[in-house]
Order: sequence, then structure tokens, then C-alpha cells
Amino acid sequence: MTNVCRYDGQYTCAWDQVLAQRSEGMKSSVIRELLKVTLQPDVISFAGGLPAPELFPLREFREACSYVLKEDGQRALQYGTTEGYPPLREFLAEKMQRYGVPAEPSNILVTNGSQQALDLIGKLFLDPGTVVLTGCPTYLGAIQAWNSYQARFVTVPLDDDGMQVDLLEDVLRREPVRFIYVLPNFHNPAGTTMPRERRMKLAELAAEYGVFIVEDDPYGELRFEGEDVTPLVVLHKENTIYLSTFSKTLAPGVRLGWIVDPEEVTNKLVQAKQGADLNTGTYVQMVVNDICQRGFLKSHVRRLRRVYRERRDVMLAALEEHFPSGASWTRPQGGLFLWARLPEGFDAAEFLKLAVEREKVAFVPGSAFHPGGGGASTMRLNFSNAQPDSIREGIARLGRALKAQLAQ
Ligand SMILES: Cc1ncc(COP(=O)(O)O)c(C=O)c1O
Repeated sequence: MTNVCRYDGQYTCAWDQVLAQRSEGMKSSVIRELLKVTLQPDVISFAGGLPAPELFPLREFREACSYVLKEDGQRALQYGTTEGYPPLREFLAEKMQRYGVPAEPSNILVTNGSQQALDLIGKLFLDPGTVVLTGCPTYLGAIQAWNSYQARFVTVPLDDDGMQVDLLEDVLRREPVRFIYVLPNFHNPAGTTMPRERRMKLAELAAEYGVFIVEDDPYGELRFEGEDVTPLVVLHKENTIYLSTFSKTLAPGVRLGWIVDPEEVTNKLVQAKQGADLNTGTYVQMVVNDICQRGFLKSHVRRLRRVYRERRDVMLAALEEHFPSGASWTRPQGGLFLWARLPEGFDAAEFLKLAVEREKVAFVPGSAFHPGGGGASTMRLNFSNAQPDSIREGIARLGRALKAQLAQ
């Protein structure tokens, strides 16, 4: 047996020798680390996935907080059911139906953000070595969550229409895939949206090969242009687990998300969640429910779309003006991010140090979103958090530094 602590005249402790094997896959998120640097007030940051804080509905929260405490305070401060606050589950089921997703309250599990949903999915479905099939690049938080369960990631590349579904079948034939992880709307990090035909093909393949789909959709409501595209959970209802969140439409600080899935999966996820946190905070669910029941969300989302669309346009125009020739980028129809590609051989992670130190501007190097390595010459740029003037200035600085770097 390993002794953690020894006494040799003084106590020494060797915690690293008693960590569970699964902790080997756990790494700090590059973005979380970066966010610390970008908190310096003189840095213009395109790094985090942060919503615009000046749009947080403070007044509505203040009112809802005091209303809930006044009207039903004892319930708000009590433990709740693991599945979630019933009126909020009802609201979410109805909201999903309006969005075309067939859901009853019994199909909804409220979570501490979508990030917890990803973790619970890992807890329930992943053994060491289980294969997860995902596009590349993919959401860093999913890599982090599932690395803890020692998943093995197998990837297919993305193009400007999202995951290249025509490459899927080859992988499905070869690999014992447990599920396909998809970000069909305004992909994080790539900003791409998967057209309906691709979704249909993906649903068909998933059915044919007997794998299920995890559809992660935090940004679907933030569409600036074009028509909504049918969600995978509608196309492949029986075998899709759908995730969404209030983080991007209301505020990430409430840590409130939800899962829509077949009832037997909900029941198992509830058991997984019981072990994690018993229940999501009752008070915060009641507050958010109150805000939603008053019909506020709809007009608020309209405002978010307007503001983020303007910021996206400012960033696209600035990229056109300042980025070097040979660079290209996606043109997202919604969401918070776009994805820039620089000439082969360029090292965005190396360049980031210089960009932060000399030009006081930050982004996330694309390699962070590649579970199997690669993507060195790419970067993710967030356009929701900075004001238009800062976006112009930040992209001008970045372009200047890039041109200097590429000229060397
Ligand atoms: C694709 C994706 N999934 C999940 C999450 C986690 O969101 P939440 O704040 O609800 O935990 C994010 C957050 O940025 C995301 O981009």
C-alpha cells in the first residue's frame, strides 16, 4: 500500500502517487488559463467564449430574485428534485416543442450548465478506451470532460459546412464508435453550421450503424441570418441526446443547462447526477423560471442577435482590411466565434505569446481544439465580448503582428 505521507524528521506528502489513473487525462483548459492573462484591463481579448456582460439583464434578475424569495422563499432555499424544478422543466419542454424538438417534461433533465451534461454523459457512457467520434476541431470542454473518463477520440475534419459527413462511414465501419458528438449550429470553435442534407445523412448513418448522437446546441437561438435548420434530435429522435443552456441567452453565471433525451436515458442520467450534486440549485432554477415565464427571453434574444450580428460584421470587415493575404476565415451565421486559418507552417500558439506581450491582444490557438493534435496554423476568434471599437483595434493589432511574423 502506498503511504501518502511519511515522517522523516519532517512530514512529506506524495499526493501524485495516489491519484486515480483517470486523472492522467485531466488537463487544465488552455482557455481557462488564458482568461487569467486576458483579465488585464489593457488586453483586448478574443479568447474566451464570453457573452457581452453589458447585456446581462440585471434588472430582471434583481426583480425575479426578490419575487421568488418573497413569494416562495422556503421552497427556493430547500433541496429540490434531481430532475429539476418542475415548472422550469415544463417551460423547457414547451420551448423545445416550439423549436421543433419533441419533448415532454419527463424527457428534460436540468443541469449545472451544458458542461455538467457533457460530464454526466461521460460518466454514463464511457469506459476507458471507449471511442467518441467527433468533428475536428471540436469543443474543448467536451475533450476535457471525456478525457477524464479515458475516452478515445476519433475525428473527421470539418469544412465550411461543419463535420464532413461523407467521411463518417469509413470510420464507423472501422471503429467501435459509442456515440457521435456534433455541434451543428454555429460551431464552437469553427463557427460553421451543418446544412440539412448533411444532418439527414448523419442521422441515417447513425441509425444504420447503431450509434447514438450527442447534439450540443448552446448557440442555436443566436442566429443572425438565414433559416433555422432542423435539429438532429428531430431527424434521429430515438437515438439523440440533445443539450442546451441558458449561458449564452441569459447569463453563464446562473450555470443552468438542460438535456433532452429518451426517458430511460434521463432516468440513468438522474442517477449519475445524484452522485454528483443531488440537484441543481433550486433558487437559481426558480429565478430563471420566473424570468422565462414572464416572456422576457424572446425579446432579449432578439437584442442579443442584433448586437452580436453587428460585432460579427465589424470583425469580418476588420479581418478583410488587416489580415495578411493567405489567411482565410469562416463567416458564421450566428453564435459567438469565427475560425481563422493561416498559411501552413504558421504556429499560432507560439504567435500568441508575442501577440499578448507586444500587441496586448489574445485569441485561442486552434491546436487546443484538436484532440489528436494538429491545427497549429489556426485560431479561434470570439466576437461577442468586445465592443465594436475594440474589435477594430484588436484585429488591426493582430493583423499587424501577423504580417510582421509572416515576413520573417
Ligand atoms: C459547444 C459548447 N458546449 C457546452 C458549453 C458549456 O456551456 P455551459 O456554460 O452551459 O456549461 C459551451 C460553452 O461555451 C459550448 O460552447
